[in-house]
Amino acid sequence: MKKYASIIILICTINLLTAQSRTVEILKDWKFSNYDYGAAFQENFDDAEWENVTVPHDWAVKEDFNFTHDIQLTMVIQDGETKPKYRTGRTGALPYVGIGWYRTKHTISAADLEEKVQLMFDGAMSNAKVYVNGTYVGERPFGYISFYFDITKFLKPGDNTIAVRLENFNSQSRWYPGAGLYRKVSITKMNKTHIKTWGTFVSTPQITKKHALVHLDLEVLGEGDYTLLNEIIDPNGKQITQSSKSISLNGEEKLSEDFKVTKPQLWDIKTPHLYKLKTSILKNGNLVDSYITNFGIRSIRFELDGFYLNDKKTRFKGVNMHHDFGPVGAAFHKELFVRQMKKMKDMGVNAIRFSHNPPAPEALDICDEMGILAIDEAFDEWQLGKVLNGYSKQFDLWAKKDLSDMILRDRNHPSIIMWSIGNEIMEQYKHDPNNITAYLNDIVKTLDSTRATTAGFNSANNALESGMAATVDVAGFNYKPGIYHKIREHYPNLKFYASETGGALSTRNSYKFPVVFDTLQNKRGTSVNTELYADGQPGNYENTNVPWGYAPYKELASQEYNDFVYGDFIWTGYDYLGEPSPYHTAKSRSSYFAPVDMVGLEKDKFYLYKSEWNEDAEVLHVFPHWSLPEMAGKEIPVVCYTTYDKAELFVNGKSYGIKTKEKPLVPEFLAKDIKKEASGGTTMAQLKAYAMVWEHVVYEPGEVKVVGYNKKGKKVAETKRVTPGKPHHIHIKNEVQKINDGEVAVYVVSVVDKDGNLNPHYNKTMSIEVSGAAQFLASGNGDPTNVQNLSKPTRDFFNGQAVIYVQSKSKGAILLKTVSGELEGTNTAVIVN
Ligand code: GAL
Repeated sequence: MKKYASIIILICTINLLTAQSRTVEILKDWKFSNYDYGAAFQENFDDAEWENVTVPHDWAVKEDFNFTHDIQLTMVIQDGETKPKYRTGRTGALPYVGIGWYRTKHTISAADLEEKVQLMFDGAMSNAKVYVNGTYVGERPFGYISFYFDITKFLKPGDNTIAVRLENFNSQSRWYPGAGLYRKVSITKMNKTHIKTWGTFVSTPQITKKHALVHLDLEVLGEGDYTLLNEIIDPNGKQITQSSKSISLNGEEKLSEDFKVTKPQLWDIKTPHLYKLKTSILKNGNLVDSYITNFGIRSIRFELDGFYLNDKKTRFKGVNMHHDFGPVGAAFHKELFVRQMKKMKDMGVNAIRFSHNPPAPEALDICDEMGILAIDEAFDEWQLGKVLNGYSKQFDLWAKKDLSDMILRDRNHPSIIMWSIGNEIMEQYKHDPNNITAYLNDIVKTLDSTRATTAGFNSANNALESGMAATVDVAGFNYKPGIYHKIREHYPNLKFYASETGGALSTRNSYKFPVVFDTLQNKRGTSVNTELYADGQPGNYENTNVPWGYAPYKELASQEYNDFVYGDFIWTGYDYLGEPSPYHTAKSRSSYFAPVDMVGLEKDKFYLYKSEWNEDAEVLHVFPHWSLPEMAGKEIPVVCYTTYDKAELFVNGKSYGIKTKEKPLVPEFLAKDIKKEASGGTTMAQLKAYAMVWEHVVYEPGEVKVVGYNKKGKKVAETKRVTPGKPHHIHIKNEVQKINDGEVAVYVVSVVDKDGNLNPHYNKTMSIEVSGAAQFLASGNGDPTNVQNLSKPTRDFFNGQAVIYVQSKSKGAILLKTVSGELEGTNTAVIVN
């Protein structure tokens, strides 16, 4: 029996700041080979000839694209297919399949061997088998999960060899999964008596303006008598509470404690205040172990009329995010995730669904810091597979452990509001005969009952009829804006949100005329529709969507009409590698759905969402670009996404009149029957509800201008696009001024005329030279059909733009030079700290 006396004393004599950091990252000096050396696990295996790499590392993204990689014979029921078809590019047309070995050495002192040593992987893609000094330590098949082993007994004083074998199978994924040790690896040394890894859970069960109750559940391992010290540090870095008590340990002990925080500073979307709880174990006044838990004080409630954050109804303005960084692949770089999130926040996003797997742990830290709500999602498959070698092969043996570890690792993040147990699970179609929904739901609840469980259902009827939707706390529906009102009518107690929305295709700055609405929607089951889009470049009028998708206007309208729906998550925030729907025939290798392309450049759709979602922004965006020689003298629709009340369009000074948005949209697409999602693609009426549209504008070169007016008719803003002159130089915009050693900087390069106007047709090749404090890492241009190698310093522009990624290697200035024919651009403005 554990016995402890509570003594609240201030232990001023112990300087806890001297507590050693327990963890070191093992990122440098790895050796890598793609060849399956059977003996590479052995301690003295000769790896001298192997490639030197640093972790995070993605072995496949550096290779050439080839549409023969991982061709999948599959039938995608969601796409309306009734027989299997070959799909190319589904996993990005990159060679992620195969075996990868990683080896490194780590020095351990004799003193360390008195301690416990733990080896942690934040994610290894995939089927990891880990060896230390030639001995098998353990394995973990799931590529997205963090896992660790106690390696103490395998170690010796001096150099120790760590070897990791990874293996990816063909048809293992529905998107580009990446390959290798693509997230952090670390070693933690700790006393035999220590706080268990992921062994703290801080919750805030009561919150008032005056104070908050902070509850800590804690697991400690060890033997003997100790002092347990807990301190809370407020968002300003000030210690605000300290408690101390004696504890007696006898193996694994579960302890708990409550604290009172006066005048709590709440974690909220605009004010993401973060507290720290520092837990220390002391023996006779000496520090034995310490552990810091970051947490936030915030309340969440899931009501029938909506989701409440800190008692305020908060609609999810969400995006789904895959884990890759486009040209950089799956290797996790914090700065690149920050870049993505800044862009998403600018669009007005307040929530992310990590589709469809647990993210890198730092991604959740960033959500905490930036005030972004998060759904942590465990699985895309349960027992029934979607691809031949997907997670279904591992489900029975590993699901409980994988799901539990996701929750244990992540449950202190205030950003996480829901745990998703699955996406579009195939068990829906069989009415979940083994009741896996309840099984997984219960696992979550035993580890965390402070948040809601959820799952994303695409087959709404099946999920509703089978009870799967009602088994989770809050149901997610994918692509069903036409039936929310019917779901509420038939299942009045069901709480739900839209876990995936959208499905209209676009590539940045591409326009196709005439603008034809309702295209793919009418051709359910076909892959590429008319000749108009056969080049793999759909336009930006949101008029081309995959059979199950629809233009954004439809969801926006349905969400307004059904304000009890918790909000929606666009599929996706950024375009990603793989899933080039509907181009499955050796045409494309990355996705088309997002408002931001794969290299982080905004499409027109970005401004639609920004004008609807970002309450603090003023938006006045007009399209298409004004360089359409083939349309001279012909009529085209001109569209303006704006936050202003009215807008007037001028072409070369001639007014086309003042317009307003034609809201409210008559929800003509709402289905009469719950079993039938109303069909019909985008219509002009949908577009006009969320945009100002001048349908018949005669294109002539020169300038298109939009003037924004307020309610009183006063001019408040203006924006214009001009027909560019001859390409003059390459303009380089560095997205950061300063980075730290090892970090990645991003440059946007654009071909402009002498006045700085973008040339949206420039598609020629550029060579890239990086010198000084950094080296070239990757580049891309946002064109899903481009198959140039992402890691070679040659890049075609796409519609006038491209993006370059460089990685710093020393302190100083980074020099970037780009050349394309006669055109040049240089930049020296980024400094490495
Ligand atoms: C959904 C699925 C996503 C993605 C999307 C676009 O059905 O949940 O993972 O595949 O379609 O193709």
